[in-house]
Amino acid sequence: MPMSKILVTGGAGYIGSHTCVELLQAGHAVVVLDNLINSSSVALERVRSLVPGAQLGFHRIDLCDAQAVEQVFAVEQPNAVLHFAGLKAVGESVTIPLRYYRTNVFGTQVLLEIMQRHNCKRLVFSSSATVYGNPERVPLTESSPLSATNPYGRSKLFIEDMCRDVAISESGWSIILLRYFNPVGAHRSGLIGEDPAGIPNNLSPYLLQVASGKRESLTVFGNDYPTPDGTGVRDYIHVVDLAQGHLAALSKLSAVNGCCAVNLGTGTGTSVLQMVAALSRVVGRPLAHRFAARRPGDIATCYADPTHAATFLGWRAHLDLDAMCADGWRWQQQNPNGYRTA
Ligand code: NAD
Ligand code: WQD
Repeated sequence: MPMSKILVTGGAGYIGSHTCVELLQAGHAVVVLDNLINSSSVALERVRSLVPGAQLGFHRIDLCDAQAVEQVFAVEQPNAVLHFAGLKAVGESVTIPLRYYRTNVFGTQVLLEIMQRHNCKRLVFSSSATVYGNPERVPLTESSPLSATNPYGRSKLFIEDMCRDVAISESGWSIILLRYFNPVGAHRSGLIGEDPAGIPNNLSPYLLQVASGKRESLTVFGNDYPTPDGTGVRDYIHVVDLAQGHLAALSKLSAVNGCCAVNLGTGTGTSVLQMVAALSRVVGRPLAHRFAARRPGDIATCYADPTHAATFLGWRAHLDLDAMCADGWRWQQQNPNGYRTA
């Protein structure tokens, strides 16, 4: 694919920063748009240090600020957009749904309108396996039924619909909706990784903080699920594999006439106890955990059928659970307080 200028919304965040590294290494020019509500500019400095001499611009603006976004398009004239910016905490979305709809849904509407005005109609969007709701059947294919059980999930469904509608309404749009399964791990360098604010909601960052001594013990939410060991099963995917999936999607955009969805997962299910065991092996000692009741809204099992990504994008995940744990652990040890350590 010819090198081009890519606008990365949310590029200072966890998945966005890893994707910036892959884009820059592939020779693209990158412009990040982020308001740093859930991230740090240190992440972008680290990205620059990983790819010296590469072109990485940064605009600290809110995606909902249409005038500011318009200005970025006028100045930068991007060829394509990778859209990561958004709020992502499921529990919080139940408490402050309107903020989720504003940031995620309205923010994307602003972006699409401005892309339309500037005739920049190539978009890769960060969707989620959450759009499959409580799956009747696994593995999940792109044609599995869609549903949502919380405002965060509904915001992703609305955005997917908005993308499909705009792509039908006029010709020239090429949109890929990437449905991520559970991203974990960090860059091999230990320089960039996931930096949750406060107490982590997700399994991997919580467990890494147990390993580092910051938290006492993992609470395993439910050991009575209909799964081999009774704990929840998910499709964990290394964030660098995920980042490379975006490059594959970007290079396929020209083959997309309209809008389509692609799962990015490994196809392998891992239970909570298997994750605890894998990280314990990497750390070299058992990690404290105790069982508690199921977390409301959680599902038993969720993993991808990654066939479409392989056939359509020519992409598949390469990094296994041990690499996810080893790289996550390196990041945690080098940055015990995330980017605030710097
Ligand atoms: P993240 O919070 O680390 O990154 C999101 C970035 O968007 C942050 O840098 C944040 O500051 C920025 N942002 C938020 N609101 C903004 C606004 N109004 N204007 C400009 N920037 C704004 O999250 P992540 O894990 O990197 O997730 C990236 C995307 O992938 C999100 O859309 C998320 O919903 C989606 N996703 C994440 C996961 C996951 O488990 N991490 C799974 C599936 C999908
Ligand atoms: C994984 C497993 C928990 C924490 C969420 C969102 C989803 C997507 C990714 C964005 C489950 C168990 C967890 C803990 C535990 N985000 N667990 N103790 O719930 O699969 O997905 O993040 O799109 O939309 O819902 O990920 O990491 O929270 O949980 O036992 O302290 O770990 O019950 O089985 P989940 P998770």
